[in-house]
Amino acid sequence: MADKSDKKQHYISHSESRQIAKENSKAIRTFEKAKKRKVRPEEYITEMKDPNNIVEFDDLHTYFFSDAGTVKAVNGVTFSVPAGSTVGVVGESGCGKSVTSLSLMRLVQAPSGQIVSGSIRFRADMFKRDARGRKIPVYETETDENGNEVPKLDSRGKKIVKKNDLGGTMYEMETQVVDIAKMPTDAMRTIRGREISMIFQEPMTSLNPVFTIGNQLDEVGKLHIEGISKERVRARSIEMLKLVGIADPEGVYKKYPHELSGGMRQRVMIAIALLCNPKLIVADEPTTALDVTIQAQILDLLREIKGKINGSIMLITHDLGVVAEMADYVVVMYAGKVIEMGTAEDIFDRPLHPYTIGLQKSKPTVEEESDELYCIPGFVPNPINMPNYCYFRDRCDKCMEKCSGEYPGYVQVTPTHKVACYLYGDGAGEPAKEEKANG
Ligand SMILES: Nc1ncnc2c1ncn2[C@@H]1O[C@H](COP(=O)(O)OP(=O)(O)O)[C@@H](O)[C@H]1O
Ligand code: SF4
Ligand SMILES: [Mg+2]
Repeated sequence: MADKSDKKQHYISHSESRQIAKENSKAIRTFEKAKKRKVRPEEYITEMKDPNNIVEFDDLHTYFFSDAGTVKAVNGVTFSVPAGSTVGVVGESGCGKSVTSLSLMRLVQAPSGQIVSGSIRFRADMFKRDARGRKIPVYETETDENGNEVPKLDSRGKKIVKKNDLGGTMYEMETQVVDIAKMPTDAMRTIRGREISMIFQEPMTSLNPVFTIGNQLDEVGKLHIEGISKERVRARSIEMLKLVGIADPEGVYKKYPHELSGGMRQRVMIAIALLCNPKLIVADEPTTALDVTIQAQILDLLREIKGKINGSIMLITHDLGVVAEMADYVVVMYAGKVIEMGTAEDIFDRPLHPYTIGLQKSKPTVEEESDELYCIPGFVPNPINMPNYCYFRDRCDKCMEKCSGEYPGYVQVTPTHKVACYLYGDGAGEPAKEEKANG
């Protein structure tokens, strides 16, 4: 039961509440104003720290300015997604996994939710623009009698726009590394859905109940594959339904979401996510709402698809079992921070942080016969008033005197494995905020 001091800690007086409201509105106004400002490309075009990565989160802070105070949902998160790999992000519910992925999509619920600081670097194929900011089409060419390459003209003497292999207008592109956290909102629209797509836990909340599956697939195709014909967009939608293992794609194309099972709906969501050949798929608890057997099928499908599209997957889950099956790299989060990261072998065979060890123990196994599942004792600290010391201290059975000091920095245990805990290295660690982890 909560004692008096505990109650006092959670009680907000009228004047405190007024003070919080005042500070919130000031902070929100500043962030919203910054979003409306015209951002020059120099402010968000950047460089990747490691050219092999497709995404680099760097000291990302995303906060919610709530009536009870500031919720530091993502509090200095640094990790990378190497191109072509699957990175699993794990941790208990509420540790900031979804807010990390929503920050990447720039879909954090504003105005209370804001990316406060840090970077999200992403290697994007961006449209080249002319001096007036318009996209530059690519034209068909031919060789003239002098051997020069000249634009091919149609019967009316107009240049013919080249089509890409999806049947859409081809534009001049350039690969640029952008900082998504600092990008203008309209530029982000060309990345979201086209370069990065997201699969959510509950497909019914993302599918519109009043439109057919076909309508919804076609809509996304039309939006992102500019200039595509009606027939090509329909053919592409059906091709994607086939790719995600739907046996009767033409039939499903005509159906409404409520006519499909949960597993089928999640397949449709994956088909939508794949429509534009994204480089990165963010899957946020994609199997949590499904039966165990269907879960396995969807995971198989994701694995199969990753091979086909040659892209990367950021897989978010509270379930270590899912990560064990899928991920090349694992990032463990606790209370808005990354507390350990490494390859899947590092995390599963040699877990170091007492929290990761606890998570492993709480994972049900077939081999061990036990009536009760292990549960990490204690609670995550209140997200509004985080302590200065290790956030896991009050639940940790390895806690030492120095654990009550400053929040532990990262210790690089092997080239791929790092952990924020005083048990490792010389026990000192580097200050976490200065460490630029590269998972
Ligand atoms: N829209 C919101 N408003 C206020 N707080 C939020 C909002 N969304 C998430 N949070 C808070 O942010 C923290 C991280 O949430 P989330 O990223 O959804 O966790 P999870 O790891 O389960 O995906 C939690 O403390 C949650 O209460
Ligand atoms: S720093 Fe200390 S309290 Fe925190 S996890 Fe490590 S041993 Fe436990
Ligand atoms: Mg979540």
